[in-house]
Amino acid sequence: MPLITFSNPDHQTKTVYATAGSHTETLLKLAKANKIPISFDCQDGECGTCLVKVSSLDKKKHRMGGPPTEKERNLLKQLGKLTAEEISQILVDDIPPPWRLACQMIVRDEDILVEY
Ligand code: FES
Repeated sequence: MPLITFSNPDHQTKTVYATAGSHTETLLKLAKANKIPISFDCQDGECGTCLVKVSSLDKKKHRMGGPPTEKERNLLKQLGKLTAEEISQILVDDIPPPWRLACQMIVRDEDILVEY
């Protein structure tokens, strides 16, 4: 089971297990279930309120968060967190970018740090 560590300068760092069925759940759902106060609004990949930075805590694996959908990529680009070049690279390499929308990102089987 992956360990997800949530970190924010104004809140205590908290590490939670993503449960077995969570591979269809978003990072925001996991945060809400564990009372982690990530900001959110639309919950539909349209407002950018839930922007987070994700990094791997598992040196042996590539980051395995589900790749961003076209909708998420477009909003991250609008927010200046993703360039057109990076988008092309994501599509080729299948490696997700560090900036993500918590309401869109699907947690995979890997320990990650989420800065919110
Ligand atoms: S809550 Fe609006 S984009 Fe995630």
